[in-house]
Amino acid sequence: MKNKEYTLITGASSGIGKALAFRCAARQMNLVLVALPCTGLRETAEEISEKYGTDVKIYEADLTENSIAERIHTWCEEEKIQIKYLINNAGMGYAAAFETVKMNFFNTMMKLNMNAVVAMTHAFIPDLKKISGAGILNVSSMASMLPIPNKSVYAASKSFVLSFSRAMYQELKSYNIHVSCLCPGAVPTSEQVKERMRNGGWIHKLFSSKAMTVAEKAVSRFLKAKPLIIPNYADNIVFQISKLIPANIRIALMGRIMGFNKSK
Ligand SMILES: NC(=O)c1ccc[n+]([C@@H]2O[C@H](COP(=O)([O-])OP(=O)(O)OC[C@H]3O[C@@H](n4cnc5c(N)ncnc54)[C@H](OP(=O)(O)O)[C@@H]3O)[C@@H](O)[C@H]2O)c1
Repeated sequence: MKNKEYTLITGASSGIGKALAFRCAARQMNLVLVALPCTGLRETAEEISEKYGTDVKIYEADLTENSIAERIHTWCEEEKIQIKYLINNAGMGYAAAFETVKMNFFNTMMKLNMNAVVAMTHAFIPDLKKISGAGILNVSSMASMLPIPNKSVYAASKSFVLSFSRAMYQELKSYNIHVSCLCPGAVPTSEQVKERMRNGGWIHKLFSSKAMTVAEKAVSRFLKAKPLIIPNYADNIVFQISKLIPANIRIALMGRIMGFNKSK
């Protein structure tokens, strides 16, 4: 009989989310892909389905809308889709001095990076509890590890995701639901990151990874129930060393390494 359990991935139309979809399908997982309308989600679903022979459904929606998590959940119930793994990947970032960014942008970013993660988790936990070995993978960032000048709200939103994931790991483990938090460094998905890598020299290359590499490591370690996933070796070393350095020095150093310590 065909496996009717699904992995739901938000932000699956591009970047890390799309790569996660490919790596999950390569493990014969059926998928529900969520992203904004008209972003090529259907084409991605067809490509994956053709390549791996798994069932791939799509749900086009803006995750910053109120009650959208409940609507996605209701749709899954109606379609008899049983979610075993929930991957909260959709997110957005920026790199600019705080006061130069419009408040509307921050509101949207906070809704997507934090509210949507909480709402999707809240909506699907009752279902995950019914399946043995279910799991949640939240996509945070290395930016979650410390405040980053000129990425202040983004870094804070990703700290939220990391903190939330760690707490949920403890809360849900007695239900046999594992929660992992993925913390990638730079991944050349947007023009912004690509440009930084082009101009940043070897240090930026050392701290960056391809989306497919990140996704493969993420899925593999998520299925092993690792609570914290840092896919890039250089990031991991810096993370371990940074624990020994006082916070104010770490923040100044990080700003310098990332090239974000100056606002102009
Ligand atoms: N790239 C990096 O360097 C990096 C590093 C660390 C962590 N991360 C995190 O990794 C995750 C993915 O990043 P990425 O670089 O792969 O981003 P990306 O290429 O911009 O993809 C973001 C995905 O989220 C979707 N999305 C955006 N706004 C949405 C909304 N309101 N409702 C529903 N879906 C929405 C996008 O859909 P559309 O195609 O419809 O816009 C797209 O599928 C994010 O959480 C990001 O913070 C990225």
